[in-house]
Amino acid sequence: MELLMASNLDVSVPNIARIYDAMLGGKDNFAADREAADRLLEVEPMSGLYARQHRAYIGRAVRLMAECGVRQFLDIGTGLPTMDNVHQIAHRHAPGSHVVYVDNDPAVCAHARALLAGDPGTVAVIQEDLRNPERILAHRDTRRLIDFDEPLGILITGVLHFIPDDDDPHRAIGVLTEAMCSGGHLAISHITDEEARRTRPSDNQSGLAVFAKSNAPMRPRNRADIERFLDGLEPRDPGLVCITRWRATNPAVIPADLRDVWLAAVARKP
Ligand SMILES: C[S@@+](CC[C@H](N)C(=O)[O-])C[C@H]1O[C@@H](n2cnc3c(N)ncnc32)[C@H](O)[C@@H]1O
Repeated sequence: MELLMASNLDVSVPNIARIYDAMLGGKDNFAADREAADRLLEVEPMSGLYARQHRAYIGRAVRLMAECGVRQFLDIGTGLPTMDNVHQIAHRHAPGSHVVYVDNDPAVCAHARALLAGDPGTVAVIQEDLRNPERILAHRDTRRLIDFDEPLGILITGVLHFIPDDDDPHRAIGVLTEAMCSGGHLAISHITDEEARRTRPSDNQSGLAVFAKSNAPMRPRNRADIERFLDGLEPRDPGLVCITRWRATNPAVIPADLRDVWLAAVARKP
């Protein structure tokens, strides 16, 4: 928290990293973030469950990549450190793996540097923007820790729905996956309101209104537009599905009334 205060933020504006932290039960958030999280829980009581299930999906995605021989990871839109961060999951399944964390929020990066980058030989945190993929790839820490001739795992989870079409996130993903060699993997997750627009239009608008007041308005996409992020790649089983259903280890815990609001996939570069 001291780090966040030190960077002179406007804490009256809800921040997407801190709202998510509040949803996950973290402590790195302020009153405006907690109010936004509470409002989201009113609109969608399963929001907290989805946030936790999303972190569990990330764990399963990193594990799959490690099992496929991936030993280096680029996690773009890292978010505030939480339990089971990408390098901890990767090191559990493949000790010594290299991880480069990327976020465009200076406070997130300050926190991440303090808590995640304990071993500069394997982990780095860089402040860059997904919309400038060339800068991420050219960054000296990326070049130091990532060997582009070896399979790379790229994670872009919980981020793409904050980037409007005008900023062309599909191009950014194309540039990043182009840099991967065969055997590289891409993990994405993305909010969709395709069903909610039809079945719960008022709740849907209320949820979007919460993010409209945050530092990054939310732009849900439909399934077809999310699938386009995987162009040129081979989706691993079970394809693009609800985060909770993606390789669920215990299908018994999947709520019967689960809604497909948050889709995820992992795809391999042929
Ligand atoms: C909701 S958090 C997701 C954290 C983590 N990836 C996860 O899925 O658990 C979204 C993060 O993406 C970052 N972010 C948003 N837009 C970004 C951009 N254009 N480039 C880099 N990071 C971005 C935010 O600062 C925030 O830390």
